[in-house]
Amino acid sequence: MAQNGPEFYDNDAVFTTYIARREKRDDSPNDTLEKPILDDLVGDLTGLNILDLGCGNAQFGREALQRGCRSYLGIDGSHNMIILAQETLAGTSGEVEKATIEAWSYPAHQFDLVISCLALHYVEDIRPVFTNVLQALVDKGRFIFSVEHPVITSCDRAWQMGGLRQHWIVDDYFETGPRLTHWMGGDVIKYHRTVEDYFMALRQAGFRVDEVRESKPRPALFTDESTYARRKRIPLMLFFSAYRPAAS
Ligand SMILES: C[S@@+](CC[C@H](N)C(=O)[O-])C[C@H]1O[C@@H](n2cnc3c(N)ncnc32)[C@H](O)[C@@H]1O
Repeated sequence: MAQNGPEFYDNDAVFTTYIARREKRDDSPNDTLEKPILDDLVGDLTGLNILDLGCGNAQFGREALQRGCRSYLGIDGSHNMIILAQETLAGTSGEVEKATIEAWSYPAHQFDLVISCLALHYVEDIRPVFTNVLQALVDKGRFIFSVEHPVITSCDRAWQMGGLRQHWIVDDYFETGPRLTHWMGGDVIKYHRTVEDYFMALRQAGFRVDEVRESKPRPALFTDESTYARRKRIPLMLFFSAYRPAAS
């Protein structure tokens, strides 16, 4: 049966596969494509109060605390992830709470930075979430997130054909909504939106958008040339950096 994001990561077989992929893969997309761009976008974290939506193992939180952020709070709907996140943050001031991104009670004017890495494509309606994030930020507070690129979420036929991602089929691009996909040994529902949908949802919530990025690979970050060549072909992730205007 198809599962939502948190249920999917609470499927123990899926969870084991996910952790193995994240931790033991050379030139993993997270290390080569996602982290370098997030590092560029977030910049100096000194003194910031940070909220992380869909925090997973909270590795971002551990690093942010090492880099001088004032506080870190991670939210995740998966029990497995919360246990892992608590282990990652042991001995630090970082905290995690088990809650969904949709239902969590967002406090007003608390955070300087809200981050969400590869979690919002599991959320059916991002508009109320973006409104909640806006009011949880201080003036000029930033909202930075990554999602699976809409080219990827549009259609998974190429993925189901197997093999490495040498080519990709983009189909039903403007038919937004749920996509049932078989991935990492489980069935999960992801939500496809266009690039424009993400941009407009940010604008309509009251954000100013200052950067859009697309996981362009950098050769120096790859140990394997053929992986670099492959990653130049298809965009895997999309990033937005937006901020709450003063006195909004
Ligand atoms: C691909 S993992 C990314 C984890 C982490 N952000 C990272 O980059 O390592 C997606 C995470 O989002 C969480 N998630 C998905 N949908 C969620 C929702 N609606 N509410 C809370 N957490 C959710 C999952 O449980 C999972 O931990």
